[in-house]
Amino acid sequence: MAQAPGKRLATEVSEAEIAVHWKEERYYHPPARFIAQANLADPAVNERFSVERFPECFREYADLLTWDRYWHTTLDTSEAPFWKWFVGGRLNACFNCVDRHLAQYGNKAAFIFVPEPEDAPHEVITYRELFTRVNEVAWVLREVAGLRAGDRVTLHMPMTPELPVTMLACARLGVIHSVVFGGFSGEACGIRAADSGSRVLVTMDGYYRNGNVLDHKAQADIAVRTAEQEGQQIDKVLIWRRFRDRPASDTPLRPGRDYVMNELVSQHAGKIVEPVSMDALAPLFLMYTSGTTGRPKGCQHGTGGYLSYVAGTSKYIQDIHPTDVYWCFADIGWITGHSYIVYGPLALAATGVLYEGVPTYPDAGRPWRIAERLGVNIFHTSPTTIRMLRKVGPEEPRKYRYRFKCMTTVGEPIEPEAWIWYHEVVGRGEAVITDTWWQTENGGFLCSTKPALDAMKPGSAGPAMPGIYPVIYDEDGREIPPGSNKAGNICIRNPWPGIMQTIWGDRDRYVRQYYAKYCKNKNSKDWRDWPYFAGDGAMQAADGYYRILGRVDDVINVAGHRLGTKELESACLTVPEVAEAAVVPVVDELKGRVPDVYVSLRPGVNPSDAIRDKVVRAIETTISKIARPKTVRIVPDMPKTRSGKIMRRVLAAISNNMETGDVTTLANPDVVEQIRTMVQGAGPVRTAAGPEDIKRFGETST
Ligand code: WTA
Repeated sequence: MAQAPGKRLATEVSEAEIAVHWKEERYYHPPARFIAQANLADPAVNERFSVERFPECFREYADLLTWDRYWHTTLDTSEAPFWKWFVGGRLNACFNCVDRHLAQYGNKAAFIFVPEPEDAPHEVITYRELFTRVNEVAWVLREVAGLRAGDRVTLHMPMTPELPVTMLACARLGVIHSVVFGGFSGEACGIRAADSGSRVLVTMDGYYRNGNVLDHKAQADIAVRTAEQEGQQIDKVLIWRRFRDRPASDTPLRPGRDYVMNELVSQHAGKIVEPVSMDALAPLFLMYTSGTTGRPKGCQHGTGGYLSYVAGTSKYIQDIHPTDVYWCFADIGWITGHSYIVYGPLALAATGVLYEGVPTYPDAGRPWRIAERLGVNIFHTSPTTIRMLRKVGPEEPRKYRYRFKCMTTVGEPIEPEAWIWYHEVVGRGEAVITDTWWQTENGGFLCSTKPALDAMKPGSAGPAMPGIYPVIYDEDGREIPPGSNKAGNICIRNPWPGIMQTIWGDRDRYVRQYYAKYCKNKNSKDWRDWPYFAGDGAMQAADGYYRILGRVDDVINVAGHRLGTKELESACLTVPEVAEAAVVPVVDELKGRVPDVYVSLRPGVNPSDAIRDKVVRAIETTISKIARPKTVRIVPDMPKTRSGKIMRRVLAAISNNMETGDVTTLANPDVVEQIRTMVQGAGPVRTAAGPEDIKRFGETST
């Protein structure tokens, strides 16, 4: 890839570029001060990770870990596309994140926990203390809950230290954890717990959110009930107490099923559990994510490959040194938290900040006060948080004396305007920014600038990561010429150690979803025949940088959270009055995209606000408040093809004030005009162009 020249690029402006309303921006260069201390400042990395050196190049990441037994085969493709990394190796993830640091860093903070109430004290957890807690919990999981290597356990917890402690305790035993984002409803948790076959649910009784203590225990009861309806018995619920001295929830305990973790742990204080030496290929965890069907899929990540990849990328891209104070402002309940709060940073003996609450509680200065007070020098968050903090407190960062050396953004495309505020105001013009593009399925970053080596370009995720070779295809599998600034579907030509192993319990779906579309030969054992289909639109500029345009499938990215439209639609259909539902993304200034809901009613039912409210509540209880729709529109009928397929693309165009395109071939073209007038008013349509993901919405389902 070309090194960035320091001037504005004069590339051809493509249709897709106009569509995202961003022009090519100038380059920003990393300052000498950053380069001088960076983990990765040697440009020879490009050479080391060149395609000729694949797959052995990834030894460099695996060698960051401590192995019980070294592997004999770096990449085994004999069951393509089920990739096997570091075959023959054995290791324990918890040992790598905790035990091996004790000699040198035992008294150093592993985590600094910041509760949401500002007057509550911070809690410092050293590596030594983390070791003690993890061992006690591992003891309880093994001796009280009866969990063994290979069992699955669901964790539905907030952002408190008990969450990473429980995850690491699972990893110590080889138990596969499946963490469900704490903000998901009990129902959503129960469905995932059932899919994973968890007999044990670990939760917390309550937590702070925006100044209130939420009753989280109540969600556990719903989760157990839902799992049971799905055919999965959960026989133990282990409940952490948010407060040492009192319950945070009034919801009663169920004798024989519910146990208070704090009590169990104190009964077994000081117990030590030997880490179980695991096969490199043993699953480490499941992380459920949304896709093109109504059922969330459990992305299965393995131990050796995953841990190598997150350790390597945390070192090179996050530039974490043991002396840094690193704050990733994501929730551990998402993949970013797994890879870049827990496993990657701890593998490198980092000190990490864990913050319980919302960014703007009690005001928009909170993050900067935390950064100042704790000496945070690496910061990591999402475009939505950046936009929100900018909107409510654009001058706040200037009031505090923190100093960031590098900052990350992840989860959604970031518009240059927000990027520039992040750089100039939050980063004081001196912090390097990495815009990291990747997905739950990927384990770690796929595209990002290497912070000391590559110039930054606002709005671009940058070049591919070392050892990652992307390609952009059109719908028919023709390669879009590299560097041509034309939009298409971004794929990765090669496997890498962080790629998921499979979808839990559904190998066919794994192949169908990610590989079938562009596979060159289904019987091939050669990785070159199996490009990974990411489900994102992207274009590559002449300098080799990728701009990610958003999802090309039925997924809506709300504030960096992935929601499947089919899941939302099934939630709407639980309302008895609703006959049909269609959910589409609508552009939102703060959250990137939010769902817009269209429903048609059963014959004889009249539209009413009560029905709209029911639809909103159904979405909140079956999924989460994060999925709350912008509007619920009751329409006389859905626009449909003659074969009866709902044309979501047409509805997406209407919701976003765009032209609907030719609808004359639909079964009911008149209804389009009716809906358009209802939503956009009687005036003319405002725009022909629009964001790529909205224009193509619902077209590319696999
Ligand atoms: C989107 C989050 C643009 C993308 C780590 C992807 C991004 C989906 C970026 C995955 C970025 C993530 N720029 N878009 N830097 N990072 N995305 O699985 O559409 O929660 O497919 O993983 O987020 O979301 P997920």
